Amino acid sequence: MKQWGLNPQTPQGVKMKIRAAVIILSDKGSKGLRQDGCGSVLSAMLSRIDADVIYYEILPDELDLIKAKLIEVSNIADLIITSGGTGLSPRDVTPDATLAVIDKEIPGISQAIVSEGFKITKRAILSRAVAGVRNNTLIINLPGSPKAVAECLSVILDVLPHAVEKIKGSTEDCSR
Ligand code: MTE
Repeated sequence: MKQWGLNPQTPQGVKMKIRAAVIILSDKGSKGLRQDGCGSVLSAMLSRIDADVIYYEILPDELDLIKAKLIEVSNIADLIITSGGTGLSPRDVTPDATLAVIDKEIPGISQAIVSEGFKITKRAILSRAVAGVRNNTLIINLPGSPKAVAECLSVILDVLPHAVEKIKGSTEDCSR
């Protein structure tokens, strides 16, 4: 599933597809000791909002590596979804890496995810996940299991196209 690529040119007036990147954080996954089940879940869900996964990678839970990757991928993607490394164990550093590279935080995204998740499992409050913007790219941390990733993304999925448009400078009226 590892791939790079850009969308073909889109004629003026036609909405661009969202270029999404999926970065899985897992020490075991990065060594091939655990199969990733989150990438395919994310890819299927993102296709519902016309987002193409143009980049996919599994990285170990290393702060500097994650920071560097977020910076690199923010140059080619409109949206970066990270999965894993958001909890309380000593190796969980995804939120720390994200906070180090974003220009502004969007607390409502993570708050909504936790508050909806709490209705499913009280363990949702153990997430330290953050969301924010670096340059023109929306970065969102999600947990690292396929079940949790689907639950969390479903809370915010339909808001993402508007968020990406706004980050890219759309002056369209927000009210409906
Ligand atoms: N949120 C939802 N909706 N569903 C879940 O199963 N798991 C929680 C939490 N958020 C969970 C959830 C648990 S048990 C943990 S430890 C944290 O996410 C962090 O998960 P991560 O370490 O896989 O990133």
